[in-house]
Amino acid sequence: MRIFDEILRIRKNFFESVKNIKNAEQLNNVRVVYIGRKGKVSRLLRTISDLPSDIRPKVGQELNSLKDEIEDKLKDLGLKINPHHQRFKIDETLPGRRFFAGHKHPLKIIMEKIFEIFFSLGFSLVEGPLIEDDWHNFTALNIPEYHPSRDMHDTLYIEGSGNLLLRTHTSPVQIRILKNNTPPVAVIVPGKCFRKDAIDASHFPVFHQIEGLWVDRDISFADLKGVLMGFVTRLFGKVESRFRPSFFPFTEPSCEMDISCPLCGGKGCSTCGGQGYLEILGAGMVHPAIFKNSGVKGEWQGFAFGMGVERIALIYYGLADIRNFYNNDIRFLDQFR
Ligand code: PHE
Repeated sequence: MRIFDEILRIRKNFFESVKNIKNAEQLNNVRVVYIGRKGKVSRLLRTISDLPSDIRPKVGQELNSLKDEIEDKLKDLGLKINPHHQRFKIDETLPGRRFFAGHKHPLKIIMEKIFEIFFSLGFSLVEGPLIEDDWHNFTALNIPEYHPSRDMHDTLYIEGSGNLLLRTHTSPVQIRILKNNTPPVAVIVPGKCFRKDAIDASHFPVFHQIEGLWVDRDISFADLKGVLMGFVTRLFGKVESRFRPSFFPFTEPSCEMDISCPLCGGKGCSTCGGQGYLEILGAGMVHPAIFKNSGVKGEWQGFAFGMGVERIALIYYGLADIRNFYNNDIRFLDQFR
């Protein structure tokens, strides 16, 4: 059969002609002669339909396997001639791919600034569970059964769990610390808290607090003021502070601390709502019931405070809307790079 002889001859010639190939140009010439669009193999492949039908399949098979063989051989030779370029087709004119490095979230930045200040005063950092039981979150903190913060509207209860809930503040960790440690203790407790709040510019169902607790033999309200005034000065620079009487079931006496608005210097602006002052935390002297409920015996006293991280971050950066912290809008977040 002439056609089969011809295939054999093409094969032989091909392997003969690739023997002396030295560069990519020669390689390409051989490619064109054999398997290019008008190459020897391709031309024969196009004549298959003119052949008697009984040999057509066999001829097709032989030609195709010859074509594969030639392609494999050319690929091998290509790798030998230029190992790098043949393996990857690289368009060197394309722009490079840029890698974007991540960075800390603004809330994280603020938290770390706050930690640093308290670490320098000798406080250490402790964390507690996000899922609490009713006793730690309320009862042990002297929050009676009928207190409004127990209301279903504020607290996210875990369905079917009996007494489990998402903690509404970081204060339950006070109980855990005092149960497991003998004073003196000086700790800060950062972490997420949850309340069944509708979302608006200043409310979000998950938010962060930093709790503080310092218990020793003779901690007084003067220590509370000294530590917290030192703290706000270190964080915000020169600001006035103001302690207003307040109520928390787990501190007595209790207060709220305001600072003069660091953005307008107390003159009144949109951040402080024209008031000149901003509330930044709740605090007070640890209530005797807290010592009793955590089994602390002896002559101890201390102070505790709790601050909202989002609120402090809004003031620190002069922002108006808490939702920006959670929208994951890179254009917003990148400002804190
Ligand atoms: N837990 C209180 C709140 O969430 C804040 C606070 C903490 C007040 C510690 C006094 C002492 O509002």
